Amino acid sequence: MSEKSLLDTTKPNPGRIYDYLLGGHHNFEVDRRAGDFIKSLAPFVPKMVRLTRWCLQDIARTLTYERGYRCIIDFASGLPTMGHLHTAVAPGTVVIYSDRDPICVEYSREILGDTPNVYYFQADCRRPEELLNRPEVEAILGGNRRVAFVYWAITGFMTDEEIANVARVLYDWSDEGSCWAVFLMEGNPEHPTAKRILDFYRQIGEPVYYRPLAVFRELVQPWQPDELGFRTLEEWHGLQDTMTEDDKQFIAAGGGGYGVYLVK
Ligand SMILES: C[S@@+](CC[C@H](N)C(=O)[O-])C[C@H]1O[C@@H](n2cnc3c(N)ncnc32)[C@H](O)[C@@H]1O
Repeated sequence: MSEKSLLDTTKPNPGRIYDYLLGGHHNFEVDRRAGDFIKSLAPFVPKMVRLTRWCLQDIARTLTYERGYRCIIDFASGLPTMGHLHTAVAPGTVVIYSDRDPICVEYSREILGDTPNVYYFQADCRRPEELLNRPEVEAILGGNRRVAFVYWAITGFMTDEEIANVARVLYDWSDEGSCWAVFLMEGNPEHPTAKRILDFYRQIGEPVYYRPLAVFRELVQPWQPDELGFRTLEEWHGLQDTMTEDDKQFIAAGGGGYGVYLVK
């Protein structure tokens, strides 16, 4: 997302639009108008956004209770409300959230207060090394590099080159056995509704990229999917009951995209 829209409350900002669609209160009139416009085009979007957020709870439980990770590092976290990761992790897990939007960081720190083991930093997810190399983060990790990274509902705002770069940086930084939970947004860019939504995001200077799964698989090399593989939101968190056939056509047969646990 562009720097200019972060603090400019006269222009809609995708992070705050997302918060509005989630039912949150950290947004401005201009964001609510943009969110209402999107809802008027695609009424199921708020449901999808909430389901995407709920998947984070599945991720938190799987990573910590089942797979034993003691630290989750989440990029482009948005606000830690409405069931974010730290509410579902095993006791004692360290959660490091981050976001580029300074308003979001400020609100988030306020929301978290002194919740133990949960941290929030300002960082750009396209350059993860900036967060990972911060002295405060190094101190929190205490040398632990067997961690779980999360990039959820953000790759749609990143170019191919940015995703490939992130994959390489995370892989090189982390120890063997690390994991990267990532969501690939997919849609049918030819669908008339999708076209209007993509146009809208382009107009506010925040282009959204739909890319096919085959391209995404290549971009995240050398990370490899675990045995569960790439799963649609339908498979991940039961989206099937909430979407009409037209909804599905709009966001592609898969139901909005794919989540995956990539492993090193
Ligand atoms: C769609 S929300 C996703 C929030 C959260 N990951 C989730 O799944 O609920 C997008 C968030 O990404 C943030 N964001 C956008 N571009 C970013 C970037 N380059 N680096 C870090 N955060 C970014 C926005 O500020 C916003 O809070």
